[in-house]
Amino acid sequence: NFNVQLDKPTGKISPHMWGVFFEDINLGADGGIYAELVKNRSFEFDNPWMGWKKLQEVPEGSMLIVNDNKRKGNARSLKINKPDAIAMGLQNEGFRGMGVRQGESYVFSLLYKQLTPGLSLSVELLDENDKLIGKSSLSLDAGETGWQSAEVKFTAAETTAKAKLNVWIEGTGVAELDMLSLFPTATWKNRPKGLRKDMVQILADMKPGFIRFPGGCIVEGRDLANRFQWKKTVGPIEQRELIINRWNTEFKNRLTPDYFQTFGLGFYEYFLLAEDIGAEAVPILNCGMACQFNTGEVVPMEELDTYIQDALDLIEFANGDSQTAWGKLRAEMGHPAPFNLKMLGVGNENWGPQYVERLAAFKKVLKEKHPEIAIIASSGTDPEGDRFAFLDERLRGMDIDIIDEHYYRPPSWFLSGAARYDDYDRNGSKIFAGEYASHTTRPNGPGRSTWEAALSEAAFLTGLERNGDVVQMASYAPLFGHVDGWQWSPDLIWVDNLQVYGTPSYQVQKLYALNKGTDIIPITRNQANVTGQDSVYASTVYDEQTKELIIKFINYNDKPVDASIDITSKRKISGAATKIVLANADLHIANSLEEPLAIQPKQQTATYKGKTIKESFPPYSFTVIKLPVK
Ligand code: AHR
Repeated sequence: NFNVQLDKPTGKISPHMWGVFFEDINLGADGGIYAELVKNRSFEFDNPWMGWKKLQEVPEGSMLIVNDNKRKGNARSLKINKPDAIAMGLQNEGFRGMGVRQGESYVFSLLYKQLTPGLSLSVELLDENDKLIGKSSLSLDAGETGWQSAEVKFTAAETTAKAKLNVWIEGTGVAELDMLSLFPTATWKNRPKGLRKDMVQILADMKPGFIRFPGGCIVEGRDLANRFQWKKTVGPIEQRELIINRWNTEFKNRLTPDYFQTFGLGFYEYFLLAEDIGAEAVPILNCGMACQFNTGEVVPMEELDTYIQDALDLIEFANGDSQTAWGKLRAEMGHPAPFNLKMLGVGNENWGPQYVERLAAFKKVLKEKHPEIAIIASSGTDPEGDRFAFLDERLRGMDIDIIDEHYYRPPSWFLSGAARYDDYDRNGSKIFAGEYASHTTRPNGPGRSTWEAALSEAAFLTGLERNGDVVQMASYAPLFGHVDGWQWSPDLIWVDNLQVYGTPSYQVQKLYALNKGTDIIPITRNQANVTGQDSVYASTVYDEQTKELIIKFINYNDKPVDASIDITSKRKISGAATKIVLANADLHIANSLEEPLAIQPKQQTATYKGKTIKESFPPYSFTVIKLPVK
């Protein structure tokens, strides 16, 4: 009853079709993928003592926060004035504790300036019951003046998600301390001061076609002063000026007052991450407008040049050779070869004529100077709303290369949306489904992506795949949620300080990404696209590298569906076929830290006869069938 026209492809699948959307929300970067364990390492949070406490009463003036505006991006430091030998200490609580593992090594480092030599430091790692689980010491070099760095390694004797760090100051003397930092040595690719291995690995496992960064609403900032400015996130990390995170706010009843962006994970690191995991880098820049869900400030048109210059300079940073000013910085940071940037987003969820006006100014300059860069513009978050329709029309009228659409909707919307792009204009702008997630009703407590949400997304994605000639890229959002510090749910991947797991939505995204194919192949039932008739959804691709026909089939019924799929082709189907199944009769089931693989793919042998597959698809299931084509 189903027919696949293998020899009649209707278009190409973009090589970067299924990707990831990264934003520092829910402790995604600081306290998440950026492996720094010390919170407020440079005393630059609004309250310089946030995250820290003194371990005992100290004499007046012996621990002072100094604010020296001459120090670029990092004015504050901690001045220690210690005339006697009694040890003085401070403790850092980490980001909801520090995750450390038994037997692994950790590097404590700092910057210091000796005013009167004679001080040394002793560092201790404690578990949640204050038991000592690691210790080391270092003396501050007496001979030098000016700012210097020092570091020491030690091993943790216990695994805990809630460690804390004591820094004891011993001896007598006067010094300024800054950038007090603790990292695991085992980071992603063992890069010093790098990223959390497990969190990068779960992304790499998806083989994402692109990574969009740095957000989301944080691109816009709560006001223009706190917008994301990429130039402040590159160069030496101690000079990267932190800002308050847009998500340091009351949102959906979650208050995260200690949420700042320290930019240890900055634009250089984002490009590197993209390269590491084989993803196209897709940066999004502020368009001269702050978050309209917040202050909604706009920059006057006559001052927009600075913002446009940021875009031009970013292209130079990514693609310029090391003779150019920004290309030189990239080379000095360790990457002489260009990053080969191809796309650039201008604005995120900005709307109204004020957005169109600013976007037009960006487009004029960017297209003149860099016609090779595709421009992505945002049409917002309400696909049925007037704002969205207004923008969609304007953006198409401007011939914008790619329109970024966002949908946070109930499962019913995702199911009916499987046909959304079937009649789309094939000649105009392409689509980037840049943020989506199926939102079921959530109880209080950590939001979870249930199987119901994930299966409705799987159904919707058949529509994106079938229309891959129009829909060039797609990413779920948000990406990460920290179980002890989140503002938004559901999220694709949940973590605590030691563990990580993918939700059912992650399993769906991953199956699409690992089986994306190269050519769109029509699958029909009674000559019509399969978009929910009898609650069944399907799409098909051919992969010219592996020479496989790949069928994606969603049964959204509480009963099995028996289907017969005929393949019409001059070619032969021959050899071992496989099917990968995600299924559960209970739509409310979800993965969790305790049961990370409640929903996980199961691989089996698929059977076929000649060019016909007869398959019984289980209730509430997503099946990927892979057939070898000769
Ligand atoms: O993904 C969470 C938020 O949703 C993003 O920051 C924003 O773009 C959207 O409103």
